[in-house]
Amino acid sequence: KEIFLKDYKKPDYFFDTVDLTFSLGEEHTIVSSSITVYPRIEGNSSAPPSLVLDGVDLKLVSIKVDGKQLQKEDYHLDTRHLTISSPPSTARFTLEIVTEIQPQKNTSLEGLYKSSGNFVTHCEAEGFRKITYYQDRPDIMAKYTCRVEGDNALYPVLLSNGNLVEEGNLEGGKHYAVWEDPHKKPCYLFALVAGQLQSRDDSFVTRSGRNVSLKIWTTAQDLPKTAHAMNSLKASMKWDEDVFGLEYDLDLFNIVVVADFNMGAMENKSLNIFNSVLVLASPETASDAEYARIQGVIAHEYFHNWTGNRVTCRDWFQLTLKEGLTVFRDQEFSSDMGSRSVKRIEDVSFLRNNQFPEDAGPMAHPVRPHSYIKMDNFYTSTVYRKGAQVVRMYKTLLGSQGFRRGMDLYFKRHDGQAVTCEDFYAAMRDANDADFANLLHWYSQAGTPTVKVTSFYNSEAKTYSLKFSQQVPPTPGQAVKEPMLIPVAVGLLDSNGKDMPLTSVYRDGMLQVVSTDGQPAYTTVLKITKKEEEFVFVEISERPVPSLLRGYSAPVRLMSDLTDADIFFLLAHDSDEFNRWEAGQVLSAKLMLSLVGDFQQNKPLSLTADFVHGFKSILTDYTLDKEFIAKAIDLPGVGEIMDMMDIADPDAVHVVRSFIRKHLASELKAEFLKTVENNRSSDPYVFDHSKKSRRTLKNIALSYLASLEDAQITELALSEYKTATNMTDQFGALTALVQNPGKTRDDVLADFYGKWEHDYLVINKWLGLQASANIPENVENVRKLLKHRAFDLRNPNKVRSLIGGFCASPVNFHAKDGSGYKFLGEIVLQLDKLNPQGASRMVSALSRWRRYDETRQAHAKAQLEMILSTNGLSENVFEIASKSLAA
Ligand code: ARG
Ligand code: ZN
Repeated sequence: KEIFLKDYKKPDYFFDTVDLTFSLGEEHTIVSSSITVYPRIEGNSSAPPSLVLDGVDLKLVSIKVDGKQLQKEDYHLDTRHLTISSPPSTARFTLEIVTEIQPQKNTSLEGLYKSSGNFVTHCEAEGFRKITYYQDRPDIMAKYTCRVEGDNALYPVLLSNGNLVEEGNLEGGKHYAVWEDPHKKPCYLFALVAGQLQSRDDSFVTRSGRNVSLKIWTTAQDLPKTAHAMNSLKASMKWDEDVFGLEYDLDLFNIVVVADFNMGAMENKSLNIFNSVLVLASPETASDAEYARIQGVIAHEYFHNWTGNRVTCRDWFQLTLKEGLTVFRDQEFSSDMGSRSVKRIEDVSFLRNNQFPEDAGPMAHPVRPHSYIKMDNFYTSTVYRKGAQVVRMYKTLLGSQGFRRGMDLYFKRHDGQAVTCEDFYAAMRDANDADFANLLHWYSQAGTPTVKVTSFYNSEAKTYSLKFSQQVPPTPGQAVKEPMLIPVAVGLLDSNGKDMPLTSVYRDGMLQVVSTDGQPAYTTVLKITKKEEEFVFVEISERPVPSLLRGYSAPVRLMSDLTDADIFFLLAHDSDEFNRWEAGQVLSAKLMLSLVGDFQQNKPLSLTADFVHGFKSILTDYTLDKEFIAKAIDLPGVGEIMDMMDIADPDAVHVVRSFIRKHLASELKAEFLKTVENNRSSDPYVFDHSKKSRRTLKNIALSYLASLEDAQITELALSEYKTATNMTDQFGALTALVQNPGKTRDDVLADFYGKWEHDYLVINKWLGLQASANIPENVENVRKLLKHRAFDLRNPNKVRSLIGGFCASPVNFHAKDGSGYKFLGEIVLQLDKLNPQGASRMVSALSRWRRYDETRQAHAKAQLEMILSTNGLSENVFEIASKSLAA
């Protein structure tokens, strides 16, 4: 059933307090809940509206109202609801419900389930209804207590939200704990954990003097791997105080590590639950990239305590209210912990590789969707990542201080409430008296806008004009779009490559002063609000080269009339590091697209001397930040280039990308070798920007070199592999080596397995590396790996590594004979029976089938049709598959 934003209705009843008791057992678990209910409108006595509770896969044991057992005719049960048709018309009544559930059989990993023998919950978005009958919607906020009873030996640790208020022993080897959460919360933030866990303990004193005890819970053997997560948590707590003035609001903060988890992590009040891959790290087992993700996600979940928990969403359409904002906050945090421009580059690449295709496909939706069948399908890069870009636009428009004023007002107005995206917008606007023109359209219009720019220099008048036009493409269900506010940060470079001072600009003939306090600006933010708009800079003494959309000030596709010479100039001189990188990407993308054309016409491929030279000058520029160099010499991804083509051609893009890499490696072999040598280090592993930069640069240089398939390089990579003292270097060398099929590849993969057999997280990397290989006919290897003892279809991380990894291979997933699509079709059906959320994530790989040639289209469509015709399909998979075929 499809649900629409426009149909939102306030609940007829609110809940004040919720007291839960869980009696955990091996056969079944009994959940007793006691809720105080009050009507939204009091004195509606004659015919009180019925009270509809959500519930799925529950066995109702008993139901009482004000202590009286309800009779069969007093309520109605169907597979999704329990409806009490005539509740008391009193100002307040008590509802007591007992249900029986079987967490040990719950493979969907939502609601209460078991992972590695422990009980754990995941409720967002609508999993609480698998625990007990409830109004499972975020605008129902209540105060909770939770009593947990379980076997002492099997479940020595019993956790829930808030403060521990009581614990003790019970008969029959059991014990109990009572938790009380003083903060009102929606049920999606409820959590319970019971099992054999140990904790790393630490503490943090907030700036107003509260001593918070911090605990990260995991198995005894993994405890040493939680140090980085703990440091990240303390850094996040400090940062949120420093940057936003936000303090933690309880005396205890728990994080629990879980091996079987659908998503990354969950911000349950004071009891965050994390996918193990986002907590556990040691220098020997986790790479720099994983250290960075852990830091970012620990921060993300912690930041939700204010943006998500204290102020939550009115309904699930508003998800970006908390997710877009919290992603923005974690991106800012990571920028402050490492390199701001490198972080920006990573975030923009991610957006282009993942969100742009989504926004151009059949599932395209605005950051605030208009409808959904299954909410879980809308935890997307659009809601999260594009949503974060929309939040960033406020900051670009208001500046840091203005943004902070907006945040302060947002909390002042809405603490303890469940609100909407308009409420956030209004707080930003009102705190700054700002004019955001048509910015709100970003929340309702899907599709990546295209912004075209043409420039003109008038040497007599000494003016420089930039003409912008914007177009938001049609998307399913939205043929016609309105123009939106697009902030474009601009600087103008003089012939020496220096930023020109900007004093004023005419917009539609109206003068706007750009300088502040008499000081000229070197970057100014132009606010484009119309379909076409012209800006004219005055007192410009020579023809400048414009640096447009600095720092990627809006999530758009920019098309300008800059020449290649202009872009090379920006690559060499732009003071905005992001745009220097961008210049390189634009040149690479142009080259790749033109070589793709050549390849398709059977023309020989070649590189221009200019390109090689530009590339070399970046690689050998010792004044540049090393991690920046690593980003700048990385070519745009296959997905990003396919996204720019009318008919995506995975083979051609793969061949071209490999050709350029190999060609650069052979032309610049000496420089790459030197890069490897200069950045090798035998120092103990430290996760900091300077050390990480060296490792990143060394590994990308090694990977270029390995594309040469040259015996000397293979030796070098093997020696890097063998002498590595940390996972970043070891896996970097492994990745370089396995590009090429042959005995070395097989040997080194076997060696790696032998080394790490005992560590499932490392073995997942091993699975992923093999699955994503572009070695022809790899689908057979992947089928073999399905049967490997390291694989388990019930574990989402393994599925993501093996199946998700496979879908990332342009050669094998998109094999022209349809073998890759067929493989995926089979897996989706198997997985859907166990875990619908996981299955629908996988089926999404087929959703952009119309982007390919007719042969591939036919193969992919056949799989989607096969999936849709299957009986008992989950709503999750149904929604993706049917929308993919319909669009
Ligand atoms: N709120 C979690 C986060 O921090 C994600 C939960 C996703 N749950 C789901 N069923 N899709 O982003
Ligand atoms: Zn989140």
